[in-house]
Amino acid sequence: MIIVTGASGEIGRKIFEHHYLKDPSTIGTYHTKKPDRFDDKNLFKLDISDYNSVESFISDIRSELKNICLINGAAITYDAFAHKSDPYEWAKTIDINLKGSFNIIRGLLPVMRQQQYGRIINLSSVVAQKGFFGTSAYAASKSGLWGMTKSIAIENAEKNILINSINLGYMDAGMTHRIPSEIRDKIRESIPLKKFGPISDILLAIEFLINSSYVTGTNIDINGGLF
Ligand SMILES: NC(=O)c1ccc[n+]([C@@H]2O[C@H](COP(=O)([O-])OP(=O)(O)OC[C@H]3O[C@@H](n4cnc5c(N)ncnc54)[C@H](OP(=O)(O)O)[C@@H]3O)[C@@H](O)[C@H]2O)c1
Repeated sequence: MIIVTGASGEIGRKIFEHHYLKDPSTIGTYHTKKPDRFDDKNLFKLDISDYNSVESFISDIRSELKNICLINGAAITYDAFAHKSDPYEWAKTIDINLKGSFNIIRGLLPVMRQQQYGRIINLSSVVAQKGFFGTSAYAASKSGLWGMTKSIAIENAEKNILINSINLGYMDAGMTHRIPSEIRDKIRESIPLKKFGPISDILLAIEFLINSSYVTGTNIDINGGLF
């Protein structure tokens, strides 16, 4: 079964929908905007930064959990130069993007270990590799996922639990659409493939990672050649 966090975001929703249409056991979480056109039993409101809420979400779905593939898409951006940033907003970005991803992984790992199966995919970002002005919190949260991924990969390899990240470049969706248009145009020009990425490439990478048996603790870059 697939669990997608951030299923109300543009990318998360497409991932959720793609799997929901193939497998009615697919579960999605949202934070403030419940996606329409899906069965209520497949969608859960969740603040991923709150470990108690994550635990109670997992206990609500515990009896359905089987062959779990967790896709961590829930995240926020916080745009501010470091020297002008609000420490509260900076920490909140880490709480949601990094700690939140950890929270749900932490909650599900005992079940995965017991079932001797798990696939975990974290959506990270090219911004963590390259840096970009105004993104110190977001970049820190997304690069934090890599170290976490590698350690969890080692701890759980013998239980057939594989964990990887997909580093997205600027995709034709969600957060990219919210970048002011003049900056967005400059970013597009800087991408060797001269276009924003299609969500279909993310679906392909997820398919590969779910079906692979020998890929763990690593990254797939989907960025149009932007390094
Ligand atoms: N778009 C891109 O080009 C791009 C590039 C690199 C990486 N990524 C990564 O890809 C993923 C999806 O990006 P996107 O552009 O589709 O983002 P998005 O449209 O902004 O969606 C973000 C999702 O995160 C959820 N969320 C926010 N705060 C939450 C919280 N406290 N607890 C639980 N869920 C929370 C939102 O829920 P509600 O809407 O219900 O509040 C929403 O479902 C993110 O991890 C992002 O960092 C995207």
